[in-house]
Amino acid sequence: MTLFSSHKLSLVALTCIGLLHPNAAASLHPQIPSVASFVNSGAPGFVLSTSTQVAVDSAFQSSGSPSLMSYAQTFRDDLISMTGFTVPEVKSLSMEDSASPSTIFMTLGATNHSYFNGEATEEGYDFTISSQSYIIKGSGANGAWWGTRTLLQQAAMSSVGSGSNGSITIPAGSGSDTPGWEIRGFMIDAARHWFEPSFLADMCIYASFFKLNSLHLHASDNLWDQNLISGPDWRELYSAFRFQPSEGSPIAGIILLPNETWSKENFTVLQSTCSAHGVAIIPEIDTPGHSLAITKWKPELMIPNTPDSLNLSHPDTIPTIKALWDEVLPWFSASEVSIGADEYDPALADAYISFVNEMSTYISSKSGKSIRAWGTNEPSSTASISKNVTIQHWDFPDSSVPVQLMQRGYRVINSEQQFLYLDGKTSDKGQFPVELDQALMWGGAPDGGGWAPNIFTRHDPHNNTDPSNPLLRGSIMAIWNDWGNNATTPLEIYYQLARSLAVFAEKVWAGSGVRETALTQDQFNSVYATLNAAAPGQNLNRAVPPQPNNVVFQYPTVAEPQTSAFDSVGPPYTLTFTIKPSNATEISVPLLDGTSMRVPYDGGVIFAGRDSKLHVQSLAFEDPATGIRYPLPYALPADEYTTVAIHATRSYTYAEIGGSVHWWTTDLDIWGEYMKPANMSFAAPSHFIRAEGFSGELHNVSLVLG
Ligand SMILES: *[C@@H]1O[C@H](CO)[C@@H](O)[C@H](O)[C@H]1NC(C)=O
Ligand SMILES: *[C@@H]1O[C@H](CO)[C@@H](O)[C@H](O)[C@H]1NC(C)=O
Ligand SMILES: *[C@@H]1O[C@H](CO)[C@@H](O)[C@H](O)[C@H]1NC(C)=O
Ligand SMILES: *[C@@H]1O[C@H](CO)[C@@H](O)[C@H](O)[C@H]1NC(C)=O
Ligand SMILES: *[C@@H]1O[C@H](CO)[C@@H](O)[C@H](O)[C@H]1NC(C)=O
Ligand SMILES: *[C@@H]1O[C@H](CO)[C@@H](O)[C@H](O)[C@H]1NC(C)=O
Ligand SMILES: *[C@@H]1O[C@H](CO)[C@@H](O)[C@H](O)[C@H]1NC(C)=O
Ligand SMILES: *[C@@H]1O[C@H](CO)[C@@H](O)[C@H](O)[C@H]1NC(C)=O
Ligand SMILES: *[C@@H]1O[C@H](CO)[C@@H](O)[C@H](O)[C@H]1NC(C)=O
Ligand SMILES: *[C@@H]1O[C@H](CO)[C@@H](O)[C@H](O)[C@H]1NC(C)=O
Ligand SMILES: *[C@@H]1O[C@H](CO)[C@@H](O)[C@H](O)[C@H]1NC(C)=O
Repeated sequence: MTLFSSHKLSLVALTCIGLLHPNAAASLHPQIPSVASFVNSGAPGFVLSTSTQVAVDSAFQSSGSPSLMSYAQTFRDDLISMTGFTVPEVKSLSMEDSASPSTIFMTLGATNHSYFNGEATEEGYDFTISSQSYIIKGSGANGAWWGTRTLLQQAAMSSVGSGSNGSITIPAGSGSDTPGWEIRGFMIDAARHWFEPSFLADMCIYASFFKLNSLHLHASDNLWDQNLISGPDWRELYSAFRFQPSEGSPIAGIILLPNETWSKENFTVLQSTCSAHGVAIIPEIDTPGHSLAITKWKPELMIPNTPDSLNLSHPDTIPTIKALWDEVLPWFSASEVSIGADEYDPALADAYISFVNEMSTYISSKSGKSIRAWGTNEPSSTASISKNVTIQHWDFPDSSVPVQLMQRGYRVINSEQQFLYLDGKTSDKGQFPVELDQALMWGGAPDGGGWAPNIFTRHDPHNNTDPSNPLLRGSIMAIWNDWGNNATTPLEIYYQLARSLAVFAEKVWAGSGVRETALTQDQFNSVYATLNAAAPGQNLNRAVPPQPNNVVFQYPTVAEPQTSAFDSVGPPYTLTFTIKPSNATEISVPLLDGTSMRVPYDGGVIFAGRDSKLHVQSLAFEDPATGIRYPLPYALPADEYTTVAIHATRSYTYAEIGGSVHWWTTDLDIWGEYMKPANMSFAAPSHFIRAEGFSGELHNVSLVLG
């Protein structure tokens, strides 16, 4: 194997030469999130090469869940994919034998690791780097896992400009690192938008590279449209409950679109992929508001004329909600779940509070899990929510002014919308940015310092708290999908999250103004692109290895269906072709028995790939994840040659045809109040060329990066 046989690191090398100082051994490179402390030994560094091996301490290999051994195996896969080196199977060695040459050794036993609130944590690690070995000692298996992310990030940064002599050198020294907060998560609204489990799994893997440890999965909800919901056609409003009940389940009736549900098996695979990467899934079933999926099934449970709100006083309401949890609680491996419980009529506060407390007791007795609820304005002079419930603050003003909640003894998670909310594609009137606002993240605190989980507002220091507040558990940023399935492709959601998760990860790990080693905005900007491109285990960028002249493929004539080596190619790209669709009204389709059948001709599909298809009819792009088509206001003439050049970036896709430009757009239905046109970004459908049911000629096909 030669160095950079992996395309990822070679992309890094090509794009980032000159960014960093050439002497890679000088110090640890900045990385995301920053490492709490590191002292350079000045000795020769650790060389990652084809002779590197990964070993775990035999005394601890089964410790943790996932175990140290399991984490080491996942790490080995990442190391292979990032470097292209052939790394042998993970070995189990005693501490004494760990001093073999070129060994990455994972062990446990690091002490004195605690979050900023003083609580001891298993997520810390110490590490010692010498020319002989790279030793990672976790305070728990999770800590050792985060230590492997540090190694990989240093490898990615060290390979920048390291030449091509077959090795990557990581500077020698020793360090210690601990996250500031226990909860470092991101929420995806997977209720108003359907996502395949494989996409969510890739998001976990990506987030894990930046040491985020939880995915909050908002899994039941509905779109909002005041007229529709209060009128006779309320059933037409999109709603979903994503967990597919088992056959014959008492809750089977809640599923209206079985093709948009996760089976238990699908979910379990997703959950274990996330967990193997140190990321816990916190599922949310949102009631008693946001409950249209339930009232479409049991209309008698709604508050009259308010179909998304459940009547908690109806004798069947709470048993129905409990039945939902009964079905799915056994699926979940995390120690906590979210019952949602936001935006419910404050006039019904006593019923609301009693409900939240009943669910806390019920879920705890059924599963041993504790619950979270969104901060909600539910004032009562007689009742209060149990302190066993963690409150996830998102909005001022409400009864959950977070500092007051903590003063009263509640544990709090910061999801304040002013800092941490995004909406798929765009928000109503620009209320939220497309990506987390970097100016706010680096300078949005009242004193001009950066945001951190202890900062709830930029305006009033009294509403913020200290990083050491024992009741502040951490933070979860959120991307909502208020405009539903047709607002975005899944990859567009990744584009909004990619950089957002990285900056958020720095802030929830290191805080702002706590550690001298925390990143500056300039340092973050100087390393983000390299680390994003190097993140292993997924390819959400849909990057391809460097191609001569940036040409992915080029064919003078495509007379028969054919395939390329790439199932999808991420933007930016230009896809060009000359096409002459036949004017046929019927075409012949081959059948399995060797005969064929005449079917009406709709133009067929010219290109298809993992993330998109391009139809002849209206040159519509299709998103295979949702089946939605996005047509152009344009029709290709039959029986004529037309040359089409498709240009795409992460923000838009347009076609240039005979000097005219046509944009692929969607129409966002903003709360049923107005329609807002928005651009669509599509990855190139690069796998099948002349894909399905096309009749006519196809020439001069090329896909060029950039
Ligand atoms: C543990 O950490 C604290 C705070 O960082 C420090 O003051 C203390 O000296 C450390 N103790 C040991 C035994 O390292
Ligand atoms: C590899 O190249 C780097 C940078 O050019 C150099 O510092 C290092 O000494 C070389 N290593 C070997 C083993 O030749
Ligand atoms: C769900 O799991 C089944 C069985 O493993 C698999 O065939 C199917 O593709 C999965 N569905 C999704 C959406 O991942
Ligand atoms: C809720 O249900 C109860 C019991 O069926 C009923 O008495 C009450 O009127 C309902 N509340 C509303 C607001 O409809
Ligand atoms: C809180 O949880 C503890 C432990 O599960 C339990 O003993 C206690 O009764 C709960 N308190 C309330 C108010 O629910
Ligand atoms: C905190 O936030 C609340 C709600 O916005 C506001 O009313 C109050 O003035 C703020 N300041 C303090 C000190 O609570
Ligand atoms: C299709 O094109 C052929 C050749 O140009 C022509 O003979 C035929 O009439 C056309 N058929 C239709 C339905 O337009
Ligand atoms: C699921 O089926 C419905 C109804 O047939 C359809 O409208 C929807 O597009 C399908 N969803 C997906 C993800 O294919
Ligand atoms: C997208 O879906 C909304 C309903 O949520 C609908 O009103 C709108 O017309 C759709 N947009 C397009 C371009 O189909
Ligand atoms: C699509 O993007 C282009 C280029 O940025 C912009 O000029 C145009 O206004 C956008 N269209 C919509 C509907 O936002
Ligand atoms: C394909 O490109 C070649 C070279 O530019 C050109 O001569 C030829 O006419 C093109 N073919 C079509 C069908 O446009």
